[in-house]
Amino acid sequence: MQIVILPTADDVAEYGATLFIRQLHKNPHSVLGLATGSTPLALYRLLIIACQQKTVSFAKAKTFNLDEYLGLAADHPQSYRYFMQQHLFNAIDILPSNTAVPDGSAADPVAACKQYEQQIVDAGGIDLQLLGLGRNGHIGFNEPSSGLRSRTRIKTLTPATIADNARFFEQGEYQPHLSITMGIGTILDAGKVVLLATGTNKAKAVKAMIEGPLTAACPASALQLHQQAIVVLDEAAAAELTDIEFYRHIERENQALLKRLTRQ
Ligand code: GLP
Repeated sequence: MQIVILPTADDVAEYGATLFIRQLHKNPHSVLGLATGSTPLALYRLLIIACQQKTVSFAKAKTFNLDEYLGLAADHPQSYRYFMQQHLFNAIDILPSNTAVPDGSAADPVAACKQYEQQIVDAGGIDLQLLGLGRNGHIGFNEPSSGLRSRTRIKTLTPATIADNARFFEQGEYQPHLSITMGIGTILDAGKVVLLATGTNKAKAVKAMIEGPLTAACPASALQLHQQAIVVLDEAAAAELTDIEFYRHIERENQALLKRLTRQ
């Protein structure tokens, strides 16, 4: 795991956006894995600006989102498809047919999960996957106890996740307890994974993910198995890490090496 600790949440968004822009410069046909939640919002705003300024184009890219509420149609304001349209897709030059979000209103959701996996394979696999982190260590909607090699499937949300996400729903509005999510195995198949976490309320999950054991009790700890996982944190989210000075030291060394290499 590469652990990058930056002063503020804005720095985290900028670092993440740069990774996506670089990926698209390297390969305009990139397949990008995207996430919802409040953490990626600032990153998406930066991508929109970059696209409007013509610094980057999504015209040849494809995207796959991590998850969706089961039981919400694409036009439901709380659906993740709606979120993506509002916060990214409507404002960039991506082809609508190149954006995929699991179908929360599929007549046969089990078959839809299988098809989603196949769609990812047919696209050539995900090059760069963006992740947020649940307070309980979930990634996508892979809640604690999720199989570490799981594939896209229906998952029941924990009461903690339902409570955390209640802020997006009106009082009395139907809030689904089920979701369709890429599995941990699906996420681990991505060429590169970048997880963003900001704020004090993520500090415990961050510590479990980086310094805890590899365990289904903290699904994000599965990133310890990935060959190219980058975890980008602000100071608040990194606050509980025991080896924080070591991670800062490695990053300084990485930056120095990069400078030397780019000078040559
Ligand atoms: C939801 C999403 C996750 C996201 C998490 C954290 O549960 N399914 O993909 O990472 O929320 O959200 P936030 O970034 O708002 O803290």
